[in-house]
Amino acid sequence: MTREQIINLLNLDLSWEYAAMIQYIQHAAMLTGPEYFAIIDEELEHAQNEHEHAVRISDQIQYLGGVPTVVVAEIKTSLDNVEMLRQDLQAEYDALARYLQRIEQLEAMKLYDVAQVIREIALVEQEHIIDLEKSLGIQKVK
Ligand SMILES: [Fe+2]
Ligand SMILES: [Fe+2]
Repeated sequence: MTREQIINLLNLDLSWEYAAMIQYIQHAAMLTGPEYFAIIDEELEHAQNEHEHAVRISDQIQYLGGVPTVVVAEIKTSLDNVEMLRQDLQAEYDALARYLQRIEQLEAMKLYDVAQVIREIALVEQEHIIDLEKSLGIQKVK
């Protein structure tokens, strides 16, 4: 993997962070019903976390000699409360999978410092997964 390739991959991650932030803001506004009040606050907190991730990844891209993208990845929405939460959870599964791969790639390049930043972000995505799985009432024990 070249430095240019890893910069491109981090820019892909960045565009998904922008999308996640916007998606959470929009879903927080659209979720409705008394049982969703706590979840709306959760979604707004997630939006803030994704904003922080975008800032941290932008800084790492600049540090590596790249230019942070302004491209926003695909945003999913629905008029159905549960469908919105499912869309958010799927985006988090995808984000965590991307970051676990990115940590491996960065460490293979001995970019342990950048890998550490991604590791910290990955942990927050795992927390987002736990929040959304609980909000959706997903029982993982079979
Ligand atoms: Fe994120
Ligand atoms: Fe997230």
